Amino acid sequence: MTPAHTAHDNTPAAAATTANPLQRLADALKPDMAAVNALILDRMQSDIPLIPQLAGHLIAGGGKRIRPLLTLASAALFDYKGTRQYKLAACVEFIHTATLLHDDVVDESDQRRGKASANAVFGNEAAVLVGDFLFSRSFQLMVEDGSLEVLRILSNASAVIAEGEVLQLSTANNIDTTEADYMKVIGAKTAELFAAACEVGAIVADRPASECQALRDYGMYLGLAFQISDDVLDYAASEERLGKSIGDDFKEGKMTLPVLKAMAKSSAAEKQFWQRTMCDLDQKDGDLAEAQALIKKHKGLELSLAQARDFAAKGRKCLENLPGNGIRRDLAELIDFAVERDY
Ligand code: IPE
Ligand code: IPE
Ligand code: MG
Ligand code: MG
Repeated sequence: MTPAHTAHDNTPAAAATTANPLQRLADALKPDMAAVNALILDRMQSDIPLIPQLAGHLIAGGGKRIRPLLTLASAALFDYKGTRQYKLAACVEFIHTATLLHDDVVDESDQRRGKASANAVFGNEAAVLVGDFLFSRSFQLMVEDGSLEVLRILSNASAVIAEGEVLQLSTANNIDTTEADYMKVIGAKTAELFAAACEVGAIVADRPASECQALRDYGMYLGLAFQISDDVLDYAASEERLGKSIGDDFKEGKMTLPVLKAMAKSSAAEKQFWQRTMCDLDQKDGDLAEAQALIKKHKGLELSLAQARDFAAKGRKCLENLPGNGIRRDLAELIDFAVERDY
């Protein structure tokens, strides 16, 4: 797939790299991201050796760092000159990392960030407990910032993510799951943290409520688009490029948008196939390929991506009244890139 177009990039920094908007933001915010990475490494330490070992395994696997970058970008968008965003960006990445540790246990995933997942290497017990540790670390970072408003936003995000993951348990294997149910799940488990990451950047820059809200809304649409794209990739990507297992959603009977789109148009026989494989979890060799064929027949991936593009357009609109600098341009392009990505 093609990276977002860069025709109107004319700043020297952007022209030097032009790779994609995520890379451009990372380049523009390089010293800030280095400060955040140093904090992440520092705060994952503990006297209990298994903690830095396990957390370090996942953190060394890289990750796109998209959420902390959003916090840094939001603060930079308003030309904020302080340093509060560093701890908050690290906090956001800790929340994310903790949810990944728990999510891979729940999803029984054995690959993450191009490596064996932490649960595969260290076992479920250790992965869950170190996830708890990282959540707790994230709360320590929030408290160190000292703003009750920031504490409210990030602690709320953390609770909502957990709600989303739990809600997803009840929609899995359930043939009656609706698109509205799905949107509720992904809004909670994914988009809420994107929204909070963006919002706190504007809060530290002391911007008026309307601008904090605009960035929050942008983050929410970005998160929705990002997760839909992720769910499309689970049926379409190559594991090697993605760095995590594909086909997991089918294996677990997760009612993601590509399946909901295909099910909406299914014949009686097709409906029986979905019931057997996704709901009864009675799966045999060739079923994933059959699911992919049915999704293709009913344009499940295209329709899902069309929905993601609609969210992307709404997200871009949220940025309209914010300062018109290079960061805003990269944020606007990032949301399209999140939809079209193939990694
Ligand atoms: C993975 O998020 C979890 C989802 C919300 C799909 P990312 O794709 O941002 O994961 P990393 O941090 O880059 O590994
Ligand atoms: C992402 O959910 C985890 C959270 C947002 C908490 P998924 O289970 O859909 O994501 P991957 O595919 O494992 O990254
Ligand atoms: Mg998962
Ligand atoms: Mg999951």
